Amino acid sequence: MKLGHDKKQIPAKKTNRNKTLTLTKLEIKKFSSRLLIPTANLSVQDLENKIIHDDLLEISDYLPNQFVDLLFIDPPYNITKNFNERTFRERKHEDYESWLDNWLKKLVRILKPNSSIYICGDWKSSSAIFNAARKYFIPQNRITWEREKGRGAKSNWKNCSEDIWFFTKSKNFTFNVDDVKLKRKVIAPYRDEKGTPKDWEKHESGNFRITHPSNVWTDITIPFWSMPENTAHPTQKPEKLLAKIILASSNKGDFVFDPFLGSGTTAVVAKKLERKYCGVEIDEYYCCLAEKRLAAVDKDKSIQGYSGGVFWERNTLSEQVSSARSQKSPPKADQPLAEKVKSKLTGDLFLFP
Ligand SMILES: C[S@@+](CC[C@H](N)C(=O)[O-])C[C@H]1O[C@@H](n2cnc3c(N)ncnc32)[C@H](O)[C@@H]1O
Repeated sequence: MKLGHDKKQIPAKKTNRNKTLTLTKLEIKKFSSRLLIPTANLSVQDLENKIIHDDLLEISDYLPNQFVDLLFIDPPYNITKNFNERTFRERKHEDYESWLDNWLKKLVRILKPNSSIYICGDWKSSSAIFNAARKYFIPQNRITWEREKGRGAKSNWKNCSEDIWFFTKSKNFTFNVDDVKLKRKVIAPYRDEKGTPKDWEKHESGNFRITHPSNVWTDITIPFWSMPENTAHPTQKPEKLLAKIILASSNKGDFVFDPFLGSGTTAVVAKKLERKYCGVEIDEYYCCLAEKRLAAVDKDKSIQGYSGGVFWERNTLSEQVSSARSQKSPPKADQPLAEKVKSKLTGDLFLFP
């Protein structure tokens, strides 16, 4: 098994500040024994909080009917990309759409009638995703995630965004808008004629407004080496991104399913937020990384950039600290934040989203 280090920029020598998660041979042995390799039909109980190490196309017929409340899909995009021991090759637009359809049609059966479906893609893959998925689901929105980092191009616009399509199975679906509000700094702190702040609050750490979440997400950084959630997976999604989707479109105890689990972000965040999870991943090393991350959740349920029940803008660490300090009893899920924040304050403040 290749111990994958792809193009992701990870310092060759691990410094103290490099938090990238890796696996020893012993850990691979330990974590691979937890993986599920299906050989026959599975019940919902078989799948609960499990990682399936297999090819989605091989095992999708073994999955039970109507058990999923939230389906999060982050497939290989239509670009040539190495995923450890396998390479996904760019293909013609129509062929990519057929590839999507091949497995998407098999997943319709596993969804509950009130379920939600999110599918990620870059601009090149996005229309194929929309065309493939709208045959089965109702389109509700397209989220644009500003990825911030990206390689400059001499004769094109730098690619700094991704699409996340939001579909539902029917017109009845969960959407917990109050759970995904954004805490923004107030630039113009208007007051009414009595001097009372208009829609904002004054805090020790500044003036803030709690706003409704929009379909443009600019507050989420891609994981990189100084973040504890970082792994060697080349296209790992940030926990904060998954937290928004899981909080908005599921409730505690619901079942979250991810057919291209990668390094396990969906499962990790589902566990932190007290949802059931199951994911499928073809690469054993990635499956083991996911298991290692899941084991760590027992000690630390914090999600970077989400604290006190709100999502914070980028570069607001000091405000998050003073807010956490001023809360007499911060929510349980955030308790390790204060400790983490203390050590972060001494060093890489700018690296904390
Ligand atoms: C875009 S990545 C997902 C990254 C993931 N969201 C994360 O946060 O780490 C897609 C993943 O799908 C896996 N994959 C590709 N083809 C697969 C298949 N047929 N069945 C299961 N997994 C597959 C790849 O190994 C890769 O890890």
